[in-house]
Amino acid sequence: MSFSSILRDLADYLAYEAEEGDREIEIAPDVLKSLGTAARRPPAAPPAARTLQTIADEVAACRKCPLHAGRTRTVPGQGSAHPEILFVGEGPGAEEDRQGVAFVGRAGQLLTRMIEAMGFSREQVFIANVVKCRPPGNRTPLPEEMAACLPYLREQIALLKPNVIVTLGATAIKGLLHTDTGITRLRGKWVSFEGVDVMPTFHPAYLLRYPKFKKEAWDDLQAVLRRLGREPPPVDRKRRAR
Ligand code: URA
Repeated sequence: MSFSSILRDLADYLAYEAEEGDREIEIAPDVLKSLGTAARRPPAAPPAARTLQTIADEVAACRKCPLHAGRTRTVPGQGSAHPEILFVGEGPGAEEDRQGVAFVGRAGQLLTRMIEAMGFSREQVFIANVVKCRPPGNRTPLPEEMAACLPYLREQIALLKPNVIVTLGATAIKGLLHTDTGITRLRGKWVSFEGVDVMPTFHPAYLLRYPKFKKEAWDDLQAVLRRLGREPPPVDRKRRAR
């Protein structure tokens, strides 16, 4: 009970006693003591507003799963605070763990080219992962590690309010939707997460290994552009060849 509500009750009681003509009232010692305690208690702080930075700070201190033990830096994700597109990968690799930035290794360079082919820069989108700490030896994150980390991504999505989420690879979509369906069957078909349209596509690391699937990935990204009411920029033939 707050001090002001205790005071209000006391004032009501005194007014009632005065109406009854009483000049004296008895207050039990423990009631007097609790009034004193309530008066000395500092007012409760309003809940702190959640921001991308407060989430990143919480991630930096997180020990909710064993991945914290092997990390150099946490990788909360980065980019525009109000992006049209949120890209979600699996988890940081060695370079991301060193820099604390998502998708900066070889796969990240291909992701950058995919984003630019769509007519965006990395700064205009947001890039994150399902898990924010590097799994040892770049192994796939375990379901319980993804489940422990998912609340951070959920909060990021609520703040970012992206128009579309693009998941990269089988693990990212599995982490979001808890599905066991393979990426080959899932890719290219719209699904939904927290009310946001999600387009699953291949992971850039997979595309580096199997370049023949780049065409399918580009089809998926074009579907995203259509959903956003955008046209892909004119093809730069020299870039497409890379
Ligand atoms: N692979 C991912 O899934 N995420 C990264 O940040 C880097 C590589």
